Amino acid sequence: MTQHQRLLIIDFGSQVTQLIARRLRELNVYCEIHPYQNVTDAFLADFAPKAIIFSGGPDSVTREGSPRPPKSAFTLGVPILGICYGQQVMMQELGGLVESGHGTAEFGRAFVTPTSANLAILDGWFTEGREQVWMSHGDHVSRIAPGFEVYGTSPGAPFAITADLKRNFFAVQFHPEVHHTPRGAKLYENFIRLAGFTGDWTMASYKDDAIAKIREQVGDKRVICGLSGGVDSSVAAVLIHEAIGDQLTCVFVDHGLMRQGEAGEVVSMFRDNYNIPLIAADESELFLGELEGVTDPEVKRKTIGRLFIDVFQKYADEIEGAEFLAQGTLYPDVIESVSFSGGPSVTIKSHHNVGGLPEKMGLKLVEPLRELFKDEVRALGRELGLPEKFIGRHPFPGPGLAIRCPGEITREKLEILRQADAVYIDQIRKHNLYDEIWQAFVAILPVRTVGVMGDGRTYDYACALRAVTSVDGMTADYYPFTHEFLGETATRIINEVKGINRVTYDITSKPPGTIEWE
Ligand code: XMP
Repeated sequence: MTQHQRLLIIDFGSQVTQLIARRLRELNVYCEIHPYQNVTDAFLADFAPKAIIFSGGPDSVTREGSPRPPKSAFTLGVPILGICYGQQVMMQELGGLVESGHGTAEFGRAFVTPTSANLAILDGWFTEGREQVWMSHGDHVSRIAPGFEVYGTSPGAPFAITADLKRNFFAVQFHPEVHHTPRGAKLYENFIRLAGFTGDWTMASYKDDAIAKIREQVGDKRVICGLSGGVDSSVAAVLIHEAIGDQLTCVFVDHGLMRQGEAGEVVSMFRDNYNIPLIAADESELFLGELEGVTDPEVKRKTIGRLFIDVFQKYADEIEGAEFLAQGTLYPDVIESVSFSGGPSVTIKSHHNVGGLPEKMGLKLVEPLRELFKDEVRALGRELGLPEKFIGRHPFPGPGLAIRCPGEITREKLEILRQADAVYIDQIRKHNLYDEIWQAFVAILPVRTVGVMGDGRTYDYACALRAVTSVDGMTADYYPFTHEFLGETATRIINEVKGINRVTYDITSKPPGTIEWE
């Protein structure tokens, strides 16, 4: 098995630490984020990083007891890049001075100008004699540590870019990982080149390693994988099947809340295309029966979650000798975040997943996507030959159409919703907008409205179209369709879908809205 060159990101709690990892992965560098509390001398020695990055963070190094990296980070002999808080902590630890208070803060856009041309990390960075960067700091460095020199300066940060070229320590006050530092990726590129990374983190090599790891973990035992039709579980299933063939059995539970034609597509794709042993369980009667009369969103979610676990377990029990359960867990779910607030956050929605299943069933986990971000899962899917149409699909929630049908769920409403949704998605595809949109769907509203068609009165359902742009689903904005597109889509839905006579467009962003209606 190949051993990738590894970079360690020590997280001091910045909101944007994950973006550092994203930028590095884009440069084919393997990196991991670990909270500063976990990075001990022993951890560092064991991890054996080829370079280290100190992230930003909300604390102040002037406060006693504020987060610190282990001292041995500075004696490992590997390049270090400190960002914002990471810069300040580096200066403080190496004999510089950081100050807080009046006049030290700087938030938002700033321009850095070079004070020297001689810096490998800046190679080709300053395009027009200055570069736009994003600052977000309350404290600033007022004296740099011995051995460091200044290479870039901004009005609010005299030591915006500093470096000790003997030790290959670099420290910047701004955030090169964010979008508002437009050429920030170049800084990371220069840093990793200087640190000797060869860009050995590619999907092809990842795939081979992952297959070898699965074989080693599973041996000759059997694995069960729950398929939802989404990208993550699909990629996990195909990858595991490549590794262990028919030792894998997939279980697909049709809860009767899938979109038009979706259940059939999943079954034919995995059973017919990939020849993966698949149990397709049509449990729609059970789910829809239990959901009868339920209108509260949380009760809907909890009911579906509970039934899903029962049903999955029932089918999994039929697979003899299964010792492992495959899950499409991704890296963002694994990263332990540095929590400064302490208290539990409010539950907005109880997300549906199969958490709890492995313990209940006494199964061990196989999680071959644990090291990947979402777009890397897509790249892996391509590497495995999954069709583009499948890989690029918008996310679809576990509770399915139940949460796009506010109020009571009936078979009639679900059927109308499926048809309207299919027309809407068809419109989006025809106008080549599908890939620009993070997620688009129709919600059927629990109101009937009066309309007129031909010479007759109609009294049918109203529906809402939703389309949002987003990076991770945490925040979102509505998609700015043209009036022509909206008008044409409304006409098509009303003409083609019996049961809907009014179409609205939801222009709420998240926050304050959420993406789904329930
Ligand atoms: P909200 O509605 O919370 O949705 O803004 C954010 C993203 O999460 C998806 N979503 C879910 N996914 N199980 C899932 O697997 C769920 O219970 C669930 N609820 C919402 C939603 O589709 C959007 O992409």
